[in-house]
Amino acid sequence: ALAPLVDPFHRPISYLRVSVTDRCDFRCTYCMAEHMQFLPKRDLLTLEELDRLCSAFVGLGVRKLRVTGGEPLVRRNIMEFFRAMSRHLGQGLDELTLTTNGSQLARFARELADCGVRRVNVSLDTLDADRFAQITRWGRLPQVLEGIAAAKAAGLQVKINTVALKGFNEDELFGLLDWCAGGGHDLTFIEVMPMGDMGEEQRLDQYWALSDLRRRIEERHALTPLAERTGGPARYVRVNDTGQKIGFITPLTHNFCESCNRVRLTCTGELFMCLGQEDRADLRAPLRASADDGVVRDAIREAITRKPKGHDFDYSRRHVAGQVTRFMSHTGG
Ligand code: GTP
Ligand code: 5AD
Ligand code: SF4
Repeated sequence: ALAPLVDPFHRPISYLRVSVTDRCDFRCTYCMAEHMQFLPKRDLLTLEELDRLCSAFVGLGVRKLRVTGGEPLVRRNIMEFFRAMSRHLGQGLDELTLTTNGSQLARFARELADCGVRRVNVSLDTLDADRFAQITRWGRLPQVLEGIAAAKAAGLQVKINTVALKGFNEDELFGLLDWCAGGGHDLTFIEVMPMGDMGEEQRLDQYWALSDLRRRIEERHALTPLAERTGGPARYVRVNDTGQKIGFITPLTHNFCESCNRVRLTCTGELFMCLGQEDRADLRAPLRASADDGVVRDAIREAITRKPKGHDFDYSRRHVAGQVTRFMSHTGG
């Protein structure tokens, strides 16, 4: 077997996030600009090329593959890619999953389950249809709720991701908790990260520290911290009286970079070693230059030697530090 990937800080790299498209049918305000310039089709890797790259990562010890975007389910023929990746399950790969806005789930839930997907993460920041249309710029809430229901019906576990936004969903904290408890969904809150070219003021205005959100929950419910991790960045607690699981992703208030296990591949074959840094490695050139996967593996290994210690996101001095100019949709979060 090949030596697994380990970065300069002795962190094993076992989790690959692959953004299969930069396109999305929504425009969440914290994720994209209203008028995005999308990549020309010719710059995209084909599904076969994505397969070759992802398979090389699996060969190098990646055990968890998360498909992201943009919105992964708007990429044409994406089920062919899931089908192809499913051959690695139990053969090195432990988990094949995706993060989605849910809009296309009603159509694809069954096929996903059929490809060995067991859990999906669905982004949902509000249960109010008008607010939903506002944050996604034109998304329809009922469509997403139908998607979630279809995923459940197909036997998929649905985890809800909610970006905590001051003045936007603060008053829905308990509404979201109850709704998720009722549907049997785990719920993960996320601190908003400064990505893209949104104004600094708006970023500061909307930032809601999860330490405060958690305190508000604790005024009503006793919480028990859980040791279990899913291999992702969330820390989980159990709500004692409902049994519900809540996750907190806290890049700002409780940095989790020391246990980072992941890198991100984009739909053009760039490899980002950190979500919060600009450095990237081009894997498309070696991929296209040679049919020999050894060349691709060498390029991956070289990239991993450049993985930085962590991000520099910081709002604490009343201004935004560590801002990354590319949009979140570029690397899929
Ligand atoms: P599971 O734990 O497997 O459910 O997945 P996950 O939480 O790793 O993935 P998901 O796609 O649901 O990501 C949720 C949020 O975590 C997104 O907003 C990501 O941007 C954020 N996130 C994931 N990995 C990192 C990371 O390495 N650094 C930072 N700062 N944020 C991350
Ligand atoms: N900060 C934090 N999370 C974000 N997401 C998109 N943009 C940001 C941001 N700037 C979230 C989405 C989705 C996940 C992949 O990333 O809501 O749940
Ligand atoms: Fe689309 Fe997800 Fe970005 Fe919203 S957060 S615009 S749903 S990729």
